[in-house]
Amino acid sequence: LSLFLFHFSATVTTMTERIQINPQIPDAAVLARAAKILRDGGLVAFPTETVYGLGAHALDIAAVRKIFAAKERPSWDPLIIHVGNLAAAVALTRKIPPFFEALTTEFWPGPLTLVVEKSPKVPDEVTSGRKTVAIRMPAHPVAHALLEAANLPIAAPSANKFGRPSPTTAAHVLEDLQNGVDLVLDAGPTTLGVESTVLDLTQNPPKILRPGGVTRENLAKILGEVEVARGVSAEIEREGALAPGMTEKHYAPRAQVELFEANLHDCAARMRSRAEQLQRDGKRVGLITRADDWERFARELFAKLRELDAQKVEVILCELPPAEGIGLAIRDRLLRAAGKSEL
Ligand code: TXA
Ligand code: MG
Repeated sequence: LSLFLFHFSATVTTMTERIQINPQIPDAAVLARAAKILRDGGLVAFPTETVYGLGAHALDIAAVRKIFAAKERPSWDPLIIHVGNLAAAVALTRKIPPFFEALTTEFWPGPLTLVVEKSPKVPDEVTSGRKTVAIRMPAHPVAHALLEAANLPIAAPSANKFGRPSPTTAAHVLEDLQNGVDLVLDAGPTTLGVESTVLDLTQNPPKILRPGGVTRENLAKILGEVEVARGVSAEIEREGALAPGMTEKHYAPRAQVELFEANLHDCAARMRSRAEQLQRDGKRVGLITRADDWERFARELFAKLRELDAQKVEVILCELPPAEGIGLAIRDRLLRAAGKSEL
């Protein structure tokens, strides 16, 4: 049955073209084609160093609306604009805030998104009516080359259906988005695996709205104190498994997610006994544990959540890292997947 379903969904995806592209030295003809689609108001899914994005010409209102439709994303959730150079970022802002120069010098191109006051030329459709705009300069050679070829600011959320784990491969993009996407540039799996850090520079001190690829510790070297928005810091330090709550889910697999603090010495034993208990109750159980470092865990996490869903697992037991380094971003995504965060 599952084979049949897979075949069926693959048939539906024929509308979207998928082209392999070398992640280090992207082919100029392919980029030119993708750039033309963007200039003509179409949608192109492309790799960044974090996750795949679903791109559209950021100043073309009709194109931006297509992103929301394809993702089934609610109109209140604003998009990030991707730029290829600093001048393009400055052109989208009304006023350069403190720390902007120091942060872009240190972390761009890279997985840091800066929220700044928007220029009037940024459409309300991109910012969901806010006076601020989120901007980032991606480091992935394909994303960078696409921005140069198109010579446009590109609005791009993660290329998943709203509420699903972000896509770290082109196959994930096609799994979620079967309609309205003109082209997927397939450069293989992304290297970071979790999304960019979103930092609000319109507040003083600046505040991390979403922890991500650039760590709080690294930001602190430039900013001194960094605030972390409530709901994403190490707010849940309870012992043992965290039962799923009633809060709205994000980054959610279809299975129920139970989390285990990796720091506690008996973590592995408690996961094992919980798995055995669930299996006795007739549940299909999946485990996600750290093989070596948390960076690799981050890189593979979203793919594992999708795999376990595809295997129709009912409960996922997952190790939870301490709230430091990339661990802060992983905790945030897992707490949301378990329905525990209110951000
Ligand atoms: O790594 C990433 O950031 C990926 C790649 C494709 O660049 N993009 C991404 O976009 O994760 P998205 O749309 O899935 O997440 C953007 C986040 C959302 O949580 C959104 O609410 C927030 O950034 N955001 C966007 N504009 C904002 C603004 N003006 N103020 C506050 N938050 C904003
Ligand atoms: Mg997203």
